[in-house]
Amino acid sequence: MKVASMFSGCGGSDLGLVGGFHFLGKEYKKLPYEIVFALDNDAKAVDTYNRNFDVPATLADIEDFDIKKIPDFDVLMGGFPCQSFSTVNPTKNPFDKRGKLYKRMSKILDEKKPKYFIAENVKGLVMLQGGKIFDEVIKDFAAQGYVVKYKVFNAADYGVPQKRERVFIIGIRKDVAFNFQFPEPTNSQFGTDNNKWIGLKNVIDSLKPKDPKYYFSKKAVEGMKKAKKNMKRGLAQDLENPCLTITSHLAKVSLNSRDPVLLVDKKKELYRRFSPLEAARIQSFPDQFEFLGSDASAYKQIGNAIPPVLMWHIANALQIQAKKENKAYGGHILPKKAKRNNVAYPL
Ligand SMILES: C[S@@+](CC[C@H](N)C(=O)[O-])C[C@H]1O[C@@H](n2cnc3c(N)ncnc32)[C@H](O)[C@@H]1O
Repeated sequence: MKVASMFSGCGGSDLGLVGGFHFLGKEYKKLPYEIVFALDNDAKAVDTYNRNFDVPATLADIEDFDIKKIPDFDVLMGGFPCQSFSTVNPTKNPFDKRGKLYKRMSKILDEKKPKYFIAENVKGLVMLQGGKIFDEVIKDFAAQGYVVKYKVFNAADYGVPQKRERVFIIGIRKDVAFNFQFPEPTNSQFGTDNNKWIGLKNVIDSLKPKDPKYYFSKKAVEGMKKAKKNMKRGLAQDLENPCLTITSHLAKVSLNSRDPVLLVDKKKELYRRFSPLEAARIQSFPDQFEFLGSDASAYKQIGNAIPPVLMWHIANALQIQAKKENKAYGGHILPKKAKRNNVAYPL
């Protein structure tokens, strides 16, 4: 299946979609997707993308890009920018310019009518303003001729060493509609050896790296201690458990933020931030994936990404079910089924 990837960033989602990589000793086999077009407006993210993928991403603003120039494709994918929808940032106006970028995705659906689409966003979008905004997004996608389903995923439930909750919205064009089933979790908080959540310790080579730049100053620690107790600062992570969600501003992480950090030495009150390599692993990138640009840019690209392993599971479920449907019906239109599914519905 040919794929157009919008807001492709460094390519976390794209790596998950095409597969063919290893993470923590597991193989994520190649999937039958071919990315024919990718677009992002962050030059450094595009550099990274182009280092890691065969078909180069286009550096452009999606608002100005002529949709007719996008080659034909079967799947539209896009983790539309989420800053304005974020639960971390509830004061932002959700109707600002970035919040409306999903409209561009729906315009592409309208003009290109691919068979499927996969969209992703922060979990907070689902309940924002009592769900009004999410309803608007879903209705907008559905109105382009799609049966739309969504589910909130926790990346940790799929073998990613991070508790990252994101909503995935899947659309199946009405004429090819089938009742898409989201993939079942592979890992669980209460699982046993093989299927339990993956602890942070699996991606941290050394708790005490040599480079001093990863350590917080005494002043930062004192500042944190002065902050109110109930403010949840200096969020030192338990190495036995998946990490809290990492964000796009890990470079600037302060001990007075809600970002996860590591407590290296309790007695000495020594804290540190993650290195870019650790952050990439927390997001389930294989070590071979190269990030270009400064550390600050790498942290941003990594924190913005969809965990490749989580994306792989979703993309795999879609290709298996799409293939089955194609085999059973020769890829023909299923009017009855399409009619029955002619509504946007949650799980
Ligand atoms: C949530 S990130 C997507 C990450 C990507 N899917 C991944 O897995 O690596 C959103 C991306 O949208 C891009 N973006 C924001 N506004 C844009 C615009 N107007 N046109 C194109 N890309 C935009 C950002 O640069 C960022 O890389």
